[in-house]
Amino acid sequence: MTALKHYLQFKDFTRDEYDYLFERIRWIKDKYKRYEPHHALFDRSLVMIFEKASTRTRLSFEAGMQQLGGSAIYLNTRDSQLGRGEPVEDAAQVISRMSDLVMIRTFEQDIIERFAANSRVPVINGLTNEYHPCQILADIYTYIEHRGPIQGRTVAWVGDSNNMCNTWLQAAELLDFKVHVSTPPGYEVEPERAGLHGTGHFEQFADPLEACKGAHLVTTDVWTSMGYEAENEARMKAFADWCVDAEMMAVAAPDVLFMHCLPAHRGEEVTAEVIDGPQSVVWDEAENRLHAQKALMEYLVLGRAEAN
Ligand code: CP
Ligand code: NVA
Repeated sequence: MTALKHYLQFKDFTRDEYDYLFERIRWIKDKYKRYEPHHALFDRSLVMIFEKASTRTRLSFEAGMQQLGGSAIYLNTRDSQLGRGEPVEDAAQVISRMSDLVMIRTFEQDIIERFAANSRVPVINGLTNEYHPCQILADIYTYIEHRGPIQGRTVAWVGDSNNMCNTWLQAAELLDFKVHVSTPPGYEVEPERAGLHGTGHFEQFADPLEACKGAHLVTTDVWTSMGYEAENEARMKAFADWCVDAEMMAVAAPDVLFMHCLPAHRGEEVTAEVIDGPQSVVWDEAENRLHAQKALMEYLVLGRAEAN
């Protein structure tokens, strides 16, 4: 039996744990591609709680759990008691007595922290207003798969300082790479909210083109994240110049990659030319959610594979 571990933000794991996980993701992916079953979580159940919409996260967790020999149960706010005011602490007590693992997509990070504090089983952050660690796990794995180690590389983040941006920044501190961030005025990174230690792994740029200079990876995300829809009109105006285009990609490193967690809005945060162009690895990135989360779930429930 391993000690209870949660994955609520990127910095919940050490660099050594990430080294293990990146290797394990590769192993799990290769085995799956060879059509060899790997039922490490046979008979176990994952409960997935969604308070916001999802395509990739739901699909990758549900398919991933089935491929590991277990089952996944979907709950949402609309048709469970969660939407009718049951305290999150009570929900955590009950749900964690009937499952082996819980994944939650919700609003404030505080909600998932309170759930985890009352859970008997590991809790995974499937996106909050503040963080999206499962996505960055898959993104960094995708970078490694295409280009090798990310340590010492530069990632350019163009756009909103949202959950994705915060998680890239945490990852940079932990795995020792740089993030160049360019946001419109008024949308800058809030280091405290991002949970940073101020280790000098990120730099802010007023001009997105400057941020992209020499970058090994250029990445962006929607201008308006889920939960911020009321700000959409103001954001459309403020972010108009923060669209990743061919000019930005041209000043980056010669072997630069483009990533986007998806869903994307072509013509807003990225041009069709870039996202559908040769430097884009967005489909690999999406697929790797599946393999990365299988390794993550296995690790949280069983610990390191060699110790099983
Ligand atoms: N990237 C991502 O998390 O996608 P979904 O919102 O479709 O889950
Ligand atoms: N920042 C986006 C990511 C969606 C996967 C959001 O929170 O809506």
